[in-house]
Amino acid sequence: MSWQTERRAAGVSKILITEQELQRRIYELGKELDAHYAGRVPLMIGVLNGAVAFMTDLMMAMTTPVEIDFMAVSSYGPATRSSGVVRILKDLNQEIEGRDVLVVEDIVDSGLTLQYLLDVLRRRNPASIEVVALLRKESRAAVDVQVDRVGFSIPDEFVIGYGLDYADRYRNLPYIAVLDPAAIQSEAETAGV
Ligand code: PRP
Repeated sequence: MSWQTERRAAGVSKILITEQELQRRIYELGKELDAHYAGRVPLMIGVLNGAVAFMTDLMMAMTTPVEIDFMAVSSYGPATRSSGVVRILKDLNQEIEGRDVLVVEDIVDSGLTLQYLLDVLRRRNPASIEVVALLRKESRAAVDVQVDRVGFSIPDEFVIGYGLDYADRYRNLPYIAVLDPAAIQSEAETAGV
């Protein structure tokens, strides 16, 4: 257990999922994926930047040989909610035709980012395409998007840590936490908003 679990970081109002709970669930997901992909070599596609922590721990929880690649996307429009219009900032380094693709997301909120990404990937004719998301905000599900495995369903709160950010910070917390609204206020004041 790291010091950050014992000493709550500034800006954290409450810890939603502890480091231990995360690691236990990710181990389970890894074993499920091992069974699912037995005899195959899936290509894990991490969606930058948020999925980095989850992708790293998930692939190490698996004993099946895997290959990895990354995509970076950015949604147009207001930063706090995705608009569904997505721009590819970084594409894959390889073709995926005939591959067993496993998309790895940190969080599915409205589902719009994932829906766009899946449309793009399906057009490239993979042999199969599956999605594993660490977190899903059930109450916010705006579109009926394919998510095959979910680590945790969470309430509609602004969560940070374990890859998830606020203003690009907090990604290195080893747990999932709810952001303290006071931290948003002080950030806005510092920026002179
Ligand atoms: C987050 C997350 C998903 C998306 C989910 O990415 O990683 O890709 O938002 O939202 P949606 O379901 O409402 O579309 P973000 O754009 O914050 O980028 P980041 O991963 O670099 O933090």
